This record gives sequence, structure tokens and C-alpha cells, in this order.
Amino acid sequence: MAWHTLEPAGELRLGEVKTFKMGGRYVAVGRTDAGFFAVDDNCPHAAGSLGEGMLQDECVVCPIHGYAYHVRSGEGMDDGEELPVFETRLDGDVLHVRLPEPGE
Ligand code: FES
Repeated sequence: MAWHTLEPAGELRLGEVKTFKMGGRYVAVGRTDAGFFAVDDNCPHAAGSLGEGMLQDECVVCPIHGYAYHVRSGEGMDDGEELPVFETRLDGDVLHVRLPEPGE
């Protein structure tokens, strides 16, 4: 696992989710009332880009078929699949995201 940074974190507005490339992978990073989160961008259902989806409370909703995944637990609310969730840490206006190394 390795930490990667995203800044300025404040560019992500409350209720927004976007795709970023970091650590050689695509990560959907967003911000809810509970703070920032980072999850795998690839929807477990059929690989839609979750960073192009929308947020509903603590879930990200895939733009392809509308399945919802909890951004803290990774639980698939519609299909029971598990979305990889990555640890985040906010330091001032820098968001740190902990990602697995390739092959991990
Ligand atoms: S690809 Fe995401 S819900 Fe089908």
C-alpha cells in the first residue's frame, strides 16, 4: 500500500464525485456530509465509471445501470457486490489516498 496525494482537495465540492488517475489506477473521489472518500472507479457490475455517477447520501450511483454502492463500506445496495474502498486522510487542503501497489 502507498499514499498518494490529491490537491487542492477543496476543488471537490460537497456532493461531487470525480475520477482521478493516481497510483496507476482510476479512483473515484468525492465528498459527502461525512467528508471525503475514495473508491475504485470501476463499477463492480459492468465497469461503468463511478466518478461519472452521482451521490445520494453516502452512496455513489453508477451512471450506466443505476446501481448504488456505499462509499464507506463498499457494499453494493443493489447487487451485493463489494466495491473496493480506499483509506483517506485530509491534511489541510491535501487529500491523501492509500492505494494498493500494482500486484497487491
Ligand atoms: S455498470 Fe454500473 S450499474 Fe451496471
